[in-house]
Amino acid sequence: MFDGTCPWGARVRAYRSRDVFTTVCSEPWQVAGYWQLRTSIFVDEQRLFSRSDRDANDARSLPIVSLSMQGGMLDQVIGIVRVYPGEDAVWYGGRLGVCQEYRRHGVVGERLIKVAVGTARALGCQRFLATVQAPNVRYFERHRFAVQRPIEVCGRPHALMEARLADFEPVSLPAAFNSSGVAA
Ligand SMILES: CC(C)(COP(=O)(O)OP(=O)(O)OC[C@H]1O[C@@H](n2cnc3c(N)ncnc32)[C@H](O)[C@@H]1OP(=O)(O)O)[C@@H](O)C(=O)NCCC(=O)NCCS
Repeated sequence: MFDGTCPWGARVRAYRSRDVFTTVCSEPWQVAGYWQLRTSIFVDEQRLFSRSDRDANDARSLPIVSLSMQGGMLDQVIGIVRVYPGEDAVWYGGRLGVCQEYRRHGVVGERLIKVAVGTARALGCQRFLATVQAPNVRYFERHRFAVQRPIEVCGRPHALMEARLADFEPVSLPAAFNSSGVAA
């Protein structure tokens, strides 16, 4: 198995595809990968939650995944985010995460944000809010979000941020969903 070391001794980074497909989950293997990656980031890596990061908002959330592609075929879940509606056409985004191998690849996080806000827009969103961990505020500002106010979540500093909706194109749902976002 490739361990990152070349025969001549230099370490090289494992291949990362730039061919990435981002979509609302429409197949069971995508949903399974979504939960697995969420747990590995928010429970195991960040320790924001002790056993599970699932909450009541998951029941009305659309799970969105980024999938790497190999040889033109969808391969594995490499990024995740969820969106859900609140009152008065306000939508919320959260649990944005990219698997460690694909971070800072300049592709995955950005696509997830575009599809998350774009999907909400396509479903009638008038405002899109996200609770963002303090170290990621700059990242979201670069992706067309503005800070509304600082807040605390799970005992850690966050910011409530709002997307500049006009900067995001609406994104259609996969064919498996009807126009209200319900799986057919
Ligand atoms: C934050 C996160 C989602 C970003 O996704 P990503 O796919 O790694 O980001 P991208 O590759 O699109 O980022 C590209 C650019 O943003 C920069 N960037 C990435 N994370 C950043 C951060 N936290 N703060 C500021 N800039 C950041 C990169 O340096 C890069 O800049 P460059 O193009 O000038 O080199 C990802 O790092 C992650 O999953 N982190 C762990 C989970 C987490 O913190 N989730 C967010 C909860 S609010």
